[in-house]
Amino acid sequence: MRTLIKNATTMLPDGPQPVAVVIEGGRIADIDPGPGLAVDETIDATGLHLLPGVVDDQVHFREPGLTHKEDLETASRACAAGGVTTFLEMPNTSPTTTTVERLHAKLELASGKCRVNYGFYIGATPDNVPELRAAQRTPGIKIFIGSSTGALLVDEQSALERIFAETTLPITAHCEDESTVRANAARLAGTCDVADHSRIRDHAAALIATRRSLDLAARHNHRFHVLHVSTGEETSLIHQAIASGRGLITGEACPHHLLFSVDDYDRLGTLVQMNPSLKTREDCRRLWQALNAGVLQVVATDHAPHTLEEKRRPYPDSPSGLPAVENSLALMLNAAHEGRCTLQQVVHWMCDAPARTWDLVGKGRIEVGADADLVLVDASLKKTVRNVDQLTKCGWSPWDGCELVGWPVRTLVGGRTVWREGRFDESVRGAEARFDHARGGYWATGGHGATPFSSFEAAG
Ligand code: DOR
Repeated sequence: MRTLIKNATTMLPDGPQPVAVVIEGGRIADIDPGPGLAVDETIDATGLHLLPGVVDDQVHFREPGLTHKEDLETASRACAAGGVTTFLEMPNTSPTTTTVERLHAKLELASGKCRVNYGFYIGATPDNVPELRAAQRTPGIKIFIGSSTGALLVDEQSALERIFAETTLPITAHCEDESTVRANAARLAGTCDVADHSRIRDHAAALIATRRSLDLAARHNHRFHVLHVSTGEETSLIHQAIASGRGLITGEACPHHLLFSVDDYDRLGTLVQMNPSLKTREDCRRLWQALNAGVLQVVATDHAPHTLEEKRRPYPDSPSGLPAVENSLALMLNAAHEGRCTLQQVVHWMCDAPARTWDLVGKGRIEVGADADLVLVDASLKKTVRNVDQLTKCGWSPWDGCELVGWPVRTLVGGRTVWREGRFDESVRGAEARFDHARGGYWATGGHGATPFSSFEAAG
């Protein structure tokens, strides 16, 4: 089967080009072929942009164990509709993904069920280093240095030292300092004001845990990815860590921390309660600045579905987290439409950078030989996010009612159209993502490459 996608503006690694793409055997077989090529299927993408499929490296999909909120099928359908063709899922399911056996069981569960490609982190506990050392078929190790949803937590220094010293997989972490959060919670005990969530999980909590992790990574010469950075101060720390030159550190921002601030509690209440908490508008500005300067490299969602009934419980009985996987690309396309960034940066942050951060094979770029995981977007399509349209099982979005410009219209996984303008090809399935950790991650594979990012100072 040979497919030709023609007349799109194709987002190649070094920028947009008006070139056709040929797909064969699930891979990109040619770019800009000459005339007269015999094909089985032609997709006329006039007026559309062709992007690599989004790689979302931080999602919580709740299967096994919490499937009243979400499951791998509903979540992966939401991914397909959002232009996400590969997801990397976190270990705070029930049971937790903290042994090789459970990791393999999750991969088994996903196979044949997921509409897009999948991978799963292995979670750290205070005493599972042998499992972390034995794990393969995974992007890396997730540590909850501060607790969030679920019981995973490693905050004792000796346990953290052991994990960084004795394992080789890339490490990523939820960075909020547990003792700071507990002390703040004790001080504000009895509150039912959701705005206090940002006083409990405050700037200091994020900063202390991020500093601690960066120190561990530096001393143990270990690759480390900072998840969901929420404060300006952390971006300065990450900048220093990257500038210190060992090529070990990458960092990520989520759409909710870029687009919501503490000012949104009045309007959205517990719907925007998440960990790390929302911070100030100045923090949002500094996250954008850090992305634009290349200090943060990745944008991912932290998709964390809870039912509306759960979310509407009065604070602090309401759970933390929000769904985002089917709207993240549209939110970032809309940001490009508003002039906050370019389309090329969106592709870098959501496709190429996460793929290289986690050593994904064949993902994140439109180039010959890559997997044909692709998304066609209409950069001028105007549409409003509506709860009723959400495919995530939890059935709501904090962006309900928001009009966005720029939407995915067709998603291909392994060269086949899985979703097109609201309709699924029910026969298409994703595959297990492959990781080649010998590649050495984002910086070892060229960092920002030819993309003209400015320096952090100049962006200030
Ligand atoms: O708010 C959050 N919810 N942050 C996390 O890191 C975990 C997530 C969840 O799983 O609910």
